[in-house]
Amino acid sequence: MVNKNITSIDDLSVKDINLISNQAIKFKNSKKIQFVKNPKNIFNLFLEPSTRTTVSFELAAKKLGYNSININFEKSSLSKGETFTDTMNTLISMKPDALIIRDKTNFSPQNISKHLNIPVINAGDGTNEHPTQALLDFCVIKSIYKNKKISIGLCGDIKHSRVAHSNIKLFTKLGYKLHLIAPSYFIDKNEVNKINPNIIYHKNLKKINDLDVLMMLRVQKERIPKNGKNMMNSFKKDYCLLSEHLSSKPYLMHPGPVNRNIEISDNVLDNYPKSLILTQVEMGVYLRMACLKYLLK
Ligand code: CP
Repeated sequence: MVNKNITSIDDLSVKDINLISNQAIKFKNSKKIQFVKNPKNIFNLFLEPSTRTTVSFELAAKKLGYNSININFEKSSLSKGETFTDTMNTLISMKPDALIIRDKTNFSPQNISKHLNIPVINAGDGTNEHPTQALLDFCVIKSIYKNKKISIGLCGDIKHSRVAHSNIKLFTKLGYKLHLIAPSYFIDKNEVNKINPNIIYHKNLKKINDLDVLMMLRVQKERIPKNGKNMMNSFKKDYCLLSEHLSSKPYLMHPGPVNRNIEISDNVLDNYPKSLILTQVEMGVYLRMACLKYLLK
């Protein structure tokens, strides 16, 4: 039997997305969660920094009764010069039942999954995808709007954002109307048009109050070119969300971590009544439980 993976939204059908999201919402609403009968060993290999994804995967595994083994770059022998392949062979020799990986290299989880017969979850690969973030974002929206096809806007550094790429794929697959709001240096329209030619583009924040949900995206400082400081300053000037931009119409989301006063002002981040940013963090645990259940049952 071919094992299932979540290395990209492309790995999932609409039926899979609905199955996983319904299970996540069910977990969130459950008073008591049953431990699995056969505890398994889940390896979390995080080769880039993370707070939300790493903690939520660990907590998700523990809430289900699995063993969660965490490996990060600084504490691994990669930091002593071991090659990636040797590290992978070493870890696989210990027979994990699933591998969760975050890596700076695009498509690394997909490439690894081709050589393994255990489920692989992509916890973020370079600028490519972050499928479990998109799934949890969908769960938050679904909890509020059920199956209503609302209008969603993604704003910011779409070009370098793996969250944006997974969200564009996911919401396109489900038939939502998407609006992308970004300066030209933070968007590659040819790349986006390959996923969905019907996306609506905006060059400023003028229409954000027509949206149901506005998702601001982190400027990926570590992935933009050396002259990126100019981009940051220009983006901050024209796109940083201030309270005067909002007439309290859209719900506000952000995958985190937020660059305060670059994407969202302190005032909006701390006081906007329709912010869902911490709801996203909370949903991350239940969504990752649902992903583990989907892959390991
Ligand atoms: N959204 C997200 O991936 O956050 P972390 O980098 O903190 O895991």
